[in-house]
Amino acid sequence: MSTGANGLEGVVVADTALSDVDGERGELWIRGEPVERLAVRHAFAEVLGLLTTGELPEPTDGRIPSLLSRGRSLAHRRLSQLGDAIDQPNAMDALRAGVAHYRAADLGPGDEAAAVLAGVVATLAAAWACRQRGEELPEPDPAAGHADDVLRLLGARPGPAGRALDAYWIAVIDHGLNASTFAARVVASTGSDLISAVTAAIGALKGPLHGGAPGPVLDMLDAIGSEPSAEPWLRQELAAGRRIMGMGHRIYRVRDPRALVLEQALSRYRQALGQGADPVVRRLELARHVERVATRLLSERHPSRPLAANVEFFTAVLLEAIGVPRSLFSAMFAASRVVGWCAHVAEQRASGRLIRPASRYVGARSGAAPAA
Ligand code: COA
Repeated sequence: MSTGANGLEGVVVADTALSDVDGERGELWIRGEPVERLAVRHAFAEVLGLLTTGELPEPTDGRIPSLLSRGRSLAHRRLSQLGDAIDQPNAMDALRAGVAHYRAADLGPGDEAAAVLAGVVATLAAAWACRQRGEELPEPDPAAGHADDVLRLLGARPGPAGRALDAYWIAVIDHGLNASTFAARVVASTGSDLISAVTAAIGALKGPLHGGAPGPVLDMLDAIGSEPSAEPWLRQELAAGRRIMGMGHRIYRVRDPRALVLEQALSRYRQALGQGADPVVRRLELARHVERVATRLLSERHPSRPLAANVEFFTAVLLEAIGVPRSLFSAMFAASRVVGWCAHVAEQRASGRLIRPASRYVGARSGAAPAA
């Protein structure tokens, strides 16, 4: 029997028709569609519909946008009932506490719940950012697109930034049996409710080895500052035994395909900004240089274990460029991945099987077993 000491690496725990990650080829498929194509041709609301129902809605179909809007309004209305529950130093703790206030019945049936909850989570994240600045959350606008409205709520500019946020949310909507999705499926497999599964998943996503890496990626770019400092800085970190954030992945043995999706979204955003794009261009050039140096240094240290940039590397650059504060990066990730969690909870329920692995006892025993 496998001992699990390898962190369940390579162990298949569930069948899924939601997403497929090919770590050797660097591919991510959402319901059979390559993520690159979805991010270029479709809106987040459409991909949300695809993931939760298996069908891509028409771009003109208003069902999902209105469910997202319902989630934003619900979160705004309920804010006063949360008291100081979301006034926590870490946005992910605020999300966990905020989401825990809901009951599954508040969210509507089946696939509706995923869209409403995505609206709730994004709005709670924006509310947290406003409260940190001592401001009130503005009223959501039901006529606005989801990404545009969320940016406006948190005090950033909609427009081209909204399209970039949409592409980011598509890139991270689902990703096989990552740690937070596994946590959600374990909770769902016990017969527990959706909110319990989602709060468990938020807890798992908070960790720096999973969704908590993009903030530290920006800290790293700040600390490096300019291209000539990249190599000495990275060497020093590695010599001190620290991990380079945004590099390496449990599944991918090549560059994470979502890094390219985000780079392309950044390029489109840059073009839309025109003259005003200089800071974005400088940040992107520094990030690309740091990625190249980090990839080289990691391959020298681990010649048989390819370690390349993961999604968090360019998440940091994209979210910073569109005006999302770095303390909110993991919460913005959750605002999309919550859709994947909900879809996996539904799939797990349909399978009906309790997830209950075994452990190997390696502790001591006192004396002989008592006679039966
Ligand atoms: N920087 C430096 N070394 C790294 C590294 C990184 N980012 N990622 C992996 N390594 C090293 C490990 O220390 C290990 O070295 P060792 O064999 O000398 O102990 C070796 O590479 C193998 O890594 P392993 O621990 O098997 O990788 P994993 O599958 O458990 O970890 C991550 C995957 C994502 C947790 C890991 O790559 C990491 O910590 N990355 C940084 C955090 C991050 O970006 N997280 C977001 C993921 S989307």
